[in-house]
Amino acid sequence: MQRIIVVDDIEINREMLCHMLQDDYIVEMAGDGQEALEKLQKYHKETVVLLLDLLMPKVDGFAVIQEMKKNGWMKKIPVLIISGEYAVEIENKCFELGAADFIHKPFESSIVRNRIKNAVELFSYKNQLEQKVEEQEETLRKQSHIIQRQADELRRVKSFNRLMMKYRAAIMEVETRMQVLNEDFSHEYNRNPFESIKSRLKSPSSIYEKLARKGFPITVESIRENLTDVAGLRVICSFPDDIYRLADLFTRQDDISLVRKKDYIKNPKSNGYRSLHLILSVPIFLSHKKEYMKVEVQFRTIAMDFWASLEHKLKYKKDVDDTDEIVGQLRACADSIEALDYQMQEIRDKIDRSKG
Ligand code: GTP
Ligand code: MG
Repeated sequence: MQRIIVVDDIEINREMLCHMLQDDYIVEMAGDGQEALEKLQKYHKETVVLLLDLLMPKVDGFAVIQEMKKNGWMKKIPVLIISGEYAVEIENKCFELGAADFIHKPFESSIVRNRIKNAVELFSYKNQLEQKVEEQEETLRKQSHIIQRQADELRRVKSFNRLMMKYRAAIMEVETRMQVLNEDFSHEYNRNPFESIKSRLKSPSSIYEKLARKGFPITVESIRENLTDVAGLRVICSFPDDIYRLADLFTRQDDISLVRKKDYIKNPKSNGYRSLHLILSVPIFLSHKKEYMKVEVQFRTIAMDFWASLEHKLKYKKDVDDTDEIVGQLRACADSIEALDYQMQEIRDKIDRSKG
């Protein structure tokens, strides 16, 4: 049975409450604040409610509450004030101090029992929730600690650093070849097919997190075998047709092979995302040998890039719900962006033709 502590300096009140509650609870009784604190010291773990009178000799109810706060007991045990007729200010003060409820004299058995039952249920629900949140936070802390530690370990492994050096070399290789195409193209057509290139090497913790999430072994070999986006480049073009022209010129280079293509421009994702993704196998030339590395290259127009960056930012704001309205608006924006891209392309063609 659950335990209740009844604190009142008048014996008849204690007896009356004990009589009402003893069928459902183990009732502990205290004649003043001092005794109440002693009982709490002994039973605070299993006490589900404290019924507390305010005006008592020696240590009064307010002092009991203060002491309970100090020990963290107010968070665990609901305090119900048993009162004669106190003034509104006193009742408010009690609530401010953290009292859960009031039970007024004269006591009515069913009301007393219901109030107590409600307070017990509410606190137990609240405590369960708090515990769950604490457990989840602890799990998250542990997970991120593990990821951090494993990532640190990866950084110390020589073969990992060597592999990262190779991915950096592959990024440089692709970037240089793109720049060459850009120069050649601008001689030929008097304009640049892309506006800018961004590149990034996946961080050790992202690498670790992705391998773990997909159930792959956490080894240097596994990174090479299972991940295709450790080396990533984003090529931002002005017009959609430049994307395909560049991608085609690039994949036709005789030592580059296309591992996988995802054309989210011809087949946009349901959220509206548009880009052309290529996984390429690119040679790098080391002191003793040639090696092929996988590189992910994403091609998008300036407008598609603007959309994708914003959508990414919005999506990762965890407190924003993915409402139908937001989803719909983002998709509509992506559609307008596509229309705009093709309109601009048509205007460019017209200008080019009118130049004769
Ligand atoms: P990841 O495991 O996330 O790399 O996805 P995937 O292996 O299925 O490859 P996919 O080609 O679909 O996506 C590769 C990358 O494209 C992602 O890591 C993102 O950078 C980008 N991307 C894909 N879909 C979206 C999207 O809906 N919105 C945005 N902003 N970026 C996207
Ligand atoms: Mg990725």
